[in-house]
Amino acid sequence: MISFLEALSLVEEKIKAINYPRHPQRLYQPIAYLLAMKGKKIRPVLTLLACNLYQTEISDAIPVALAWEIFHNFTLMHDDVMDKADVRRGQATVHKKWNENTAILSGDSMLILAYRYIAQSPAGHLKELLDLFSLTASEICEGQEYDMQFEERLDVSEEEYMHMIRLKTAVLLGACLKSGAMVGGAGKEDQNRLYEFGIHLGIAFQIQDDLLDVYGDPVLFGKKTGGDIVCNKKTYLLVNALNTKNENERKKLLWWLTINDRPEEKIEAVTALYNTLCLREKAQQTMEKSYQKAMQALELVEIADDKKLILKNLAEELLNRKL
Ligand code: IPE
Ligand code: IPE
Ligand code: MG
Ligand code: MG
Ligand code: MG
Repeated sequence: MISFLEALSLVEEKIKAINYPRHPQRLYQPIAYLLAMKGKKIRPVLTLLACNLYQTEISDAIPVALAWEIFHNFTLMHDDVMDKADVRRGQATVHKKWNENTAILSGDSMLILAYRYIAQSPAGHLKELLDLFSLTASEICEGQEYDMQFEERLDVSEEEYMHMIRLKTAVLLGACLKSGAMVGGAGKEDQNRLYEFGIHLGIAFQIQDDLLDVYGDPVLFGKKTGGDIVCNKKTYLLVNALNTKNENERKKLLWWLTINDRPEEKIEAVTALYNTLCLREKAQQTMEKSYQKAMQALELVEIADDKKLILKNLAEELLNRKL
């Protein structure tokens, strides 16, 4: 079995070795810039680890693993434009360092690059991998569209929020695991169980991301904290705050949601409100439930228990992460 760190260094080495065309520089430099940053790279690592559950030789899974990481970075490049985010992984976002048109076009180019990597996968799995990749990418667009629409709404239910994060975040983790298992030769049932494991892990992962956006250390997290509050993003915290029975707090919150010229004060006031309503604790409980569901899905995977340990440990670390 390869370790988490071995899989990570393999991914890092392959990403470093990507050769971009020289010209036009303004198309390719932002791609190299974003991919060279210190991301966690959990998605390609999940693909390699899932493959390794069924097959010692993981080289067949490298192209699809890289495709997922490039695709993920493409979504971040566009997401930062949509979320008006200035900082990513501790550095200026692409649309800040260059401009929005560059972020759009370099992002498009990354999506194409991701497809080129998928195309290098073993012929026997190519059709299935392409279908999974296209379905996942479409679902992420749907999730991002809901995420944007929800910014304008005050009546988003927890159920709608869960559906939105399943699409924008969780399906990618599920697909990373499924594709690795597929290339490793797992049967359909195990592929789907690992997909389910990834879905529940991904849901917990996005709730943790929502928490870190408020309570994280910006230096470790690498993003400006409070960004979600500023743009009325319907995070787990805000959705639940809006659903509070405490009319007084709800009124205050509704007022702050109309304010968009005092970001620092707004962040402070809304965070105080989350604290009053104990929403950090509520989020942690919901994450714990998703984590348990992830563990149940993993339990059903038909491989030896000791092989599952690496995924169990990784899931636990992700939920306690600071970055
Ligand atoms: C950020 O993903 C986008 C979300 C789904 C929350 P990561 O937290 O995995 O970002 P990097 O790649 O490690 O920077
Ligand atoms: C992540 O949502 C989902 C995608 C990028 C598809 P966020 O908007 O919460 O991600 P961060 O916080 O900017 O990394
Ligand atoms: Mg977003
Ligand atoms: Mg964002
Ligand atoms: Mg976020």
